[in-house]
Amino acid sequence: MTKPIILTGDRPTGKLHIGHYVGSLCNRVLLQNEGKHELFVFLADQQALTDHAKDPQTIVESIGNVTLDYLAAGLDPEKVTIFIQSQIPELSELSMYYMNLVSLGRLERNPTVKAEISQKGFGESIPTGFLVYPISQAADITAFKANYVPVGNDQKPMIEQTREIVRSFNHTYSTDVLVEPEGIYPENEAAGRLPGLDGNAKMSKSLNNGIYLADDADTLRKKVMSMYTDPNHIRVEDPGQIEGNMVFHYLDVFGRPEEAAEIAEMKEHYQRGGLGDVKTKRYLLEILERELGPIRERRLEFAKDMGEVYRILQEGSERAREVASQTLSEVKSAMGINYFK
Ligand code: TRP
Repeated sequence: MTKPIILTGDRPTGKLHIGHYVGSLCNRVLLQNEGKHELFVFLADQQALTDHAKDPQTIVESIGNVTLDYLAAGLDPEKVTIFIQSQIPELSELSMYYMNLVSLGRLERNPTVKAEISQKGFGESIPTGFLVYPISQAADITAFKANYVPVGNDQKPMIEQTREIVRSFNHTYSTDVLVEPEGIYPENEAAGRLPGLDGNAKMSKSLNNGIYLADDADTLRKKVMSMYTDPNHIRVEDPGQIEGNMVFHYLDVFGRPEEAAEIAEMKEHYQRGGLGDVKTKRYLLEILERELGPIRERRLEFAKDMGEVYRILQEGSERAREVASQTLSEVKSAMGINYFK
């Protein structure tokens, strides 16, 4: 029996932070260890280039960094195919055929792409490659005949677009080569998105409010000690607020079930007054260090041999390419353009 296929990817635009870890990496490692699925995880460097064309260095550097983050978090290249998008030319070729099945108007209506266009300030100069990235994402997904795609809620329009392309392709060419994928989304927004140290809804590099898997112990300590709590909790005796207090938010996310009672007690104490921020932060630091310390150690270990890291990527890319080229061949046959077969 063949296992259902799961595929997911990240744009390599910087090191991964602990929001990525709780939001997706952890789950990938669980899925990997369950062993019930075939897993593909990849670095979407071509997609990252659609808005970094003039700054490829950031993307290039991030390939190594994100792969180190993957390995440190526990992804095992023996169990998961880890690959780089740009090394699979079949994906670009598939995109060419899919582009003919999608109207410009359909692309312009994609709400995530729309939001990104205004955030990035493209104005009237939207790079064509950027506008069509949902089509290339459909190629990523369908090349591997993925059944499930675990992604954030912002990726729903991409999955919907992919499903439309699959239906359109299969219908147009009277075939069933392409598989309609299903998205797997975080159960709630809180689980899917960890806020920043400053309380901003999003942890991101540009806001400089993140904790990275690569951060050393001292950096972690400084960041925790600077976290946003309750600005009105001035003296220890003052009653404090839990809502919007990042220390308690992170405790809820990173505390273990056996710590829940202790955390609940701390919350009451804090609200009553008499519990200082330094104490709550020290407690959080202990918990974070326990969770992140081993990841940091593994990351340092892998980083000693970047040659090996790139070998992992190369082998993964070779394996991925075999799968994608089989699908491409089926696609071309369905269209009748496999002339020399
Ligand atoms: N768009 C995704 C993101 O920004 C990255 C991505 C590219 C992806 N291709 C994919 C995710 C295919 C899942 C499947 O996070």
